Amino acid sequence: MSKLWGGRFDKPTNELLERFNASIGFDWRLYAADIAGSIAYAGSIHAVGILTDAELDAIVQGLEQVRAEFDAGTFVALPSDEDIHTAVERRLGEIIGDAAGKLHTGRSRNDQIATDVRLYLLHQIPVLREHVRGLQRAIVDKAEAHLDVMMPGYTHLQPAQPILFAHWLMSFFWMLQRDLERLDDLTRRVSVLPLGSAALAGNTFGIDRDALAAALGFDRSCENSLDAVSDRDCVAETLFWAALFQMHLSRLSEDLILYASAEFGFVELDDAYSTGSSIMPQKKNPDSIELVRGKAGRMVGNLVSLLITLKGLPSTYDKDLQEDKEPLFDALDTLELELPVLAGVVATLHINTARMAAALRDELLATELADYLVRRGVPFRQGHHIVGQAVRLALSRGCGLRDLTTDDYRSLSSHFGEDVHNVLDFRRAIEQRSVSGGTATAAVKAQIAVAKSFLDK
Ligand code: ARG
Repeated sequence: MSKLWGGRFDKPTNELLERFNASIGFDWRLYAADIAGSIAYAGSIHAVGILTDAELDAIVQGLEQVRAEFDAGTFVALPSDEDIHTAVERRLGEIIGDAAGKLHTGRSRNDQIATDVRLYLLHQIPVLREHVRGLQRAIVDKAEAHLDVMMPGYTHLQPAQPILFAHWLMSFFWMLQRDLERLDDLTRRVSVLPLGSAALAGNTFGIDRDALAAALGFDRSCENSLDAVSDRDCVAETLFWAALFQMHLSRLSEDLILYASAEFGFVELDDAYSTGSSIMPQKKNPDSIELVRGKAGRMVGNLVSLLITLKGLPSTYDKDLQEDKEPLFDALDTLELELPVLAGVVATLHINTARMAAALRDELLATELADYLVRRGVPFRQGHHIVGQAVRLALSRGCGLRDLTTDDYRSLSSHFGEDVHNVLDFRRAIEQRSVSGGTATAAVKAQIAVAKSFLDK
């Protein structure tokens, strides 16, 4: 079939350019959006008298048949199908004949592609949302099932203070919760209809764009046709969203990789989520979460790739904009595959309570001693210094803070009393932190209750 734009050309397109120019290899997945957009658009031009009732019926039925062929996997793309728009229109013509040629009246592929991508996103975002929810649910369930487990909390990857395992795990819930909020927020800006902007200057046939927006499920239609055909902000926002989200996932993965190492031994990945080595028979590798960590680089790359494509583009539509799709599809595909995997890793994770308890070293209680002195009127800075000396004394003796005697403590400060050893208790240290957002059991329970109320919404 001749090209949509073949009329003014004397020669056929160079074969390599044809391949280079084509986007059907990746934009075919927009078929449902493209067809939905065309069905709604046919309604718009019918309403202003461009299509007869019979033509509208033929176009709608024909498009539905094309969609069914795509759904069934029987659609055959031809080498001449430059992009999804061309492919659908070519096939529609084969099915219904000349009436197909009226569908594109007053429309351009410029407003069509901008509409397709937004419709596709509006369809994919709820799918993504459910996957994020699934991971959040796995986190909450795991935290709740191991509420009594204590572990060292780290700063600078150095043992800092004792915390609940559930508190550590729940910290990731809140990162994901913010990600969900960001996703909802950006959806408002996705939900703006470009169709009716035509190539750049607007539709000439007086179509009702608000009705078109409503028919397609958009919140509203865009205000400026020039902006509408060139705006890829919502793709960039989605890619930023994905990059930040993936960064959170990579941090969770990194903690899990560390904690699953022989040196920590706090957790063990289930066999179903681990892989082996081709040479070392003993190995059980956390490839699942290493890949999640590794994908973060690629997600940032997708964002940067689009931003650089957009930078400095002249108004309005430029073919460079075709380069928005592969990064977007890559990001969405990656997320949709990895999220259930990561949720499975968390749900099946084996928790080694004894190894975590064994890692609770006395130094983790140094802050308790300083707080003890504060409660006896010693300014915190001074208390900090005194306890530093106690740590040094214990180090020089090769013993722990709990092994120092009351006399040892009193030799450092007369403010230490007989009860000093009472504060040297991991469980007590945890339960002291009952402030909202703290690691005490009651505070973590309250945190989980709030998290669950978000999940129920
Ligand atoms: N494949 C193109 C894209 O993704 C569709 C729009 C083409 N428009 C044009 N005037 N060539 O951007």
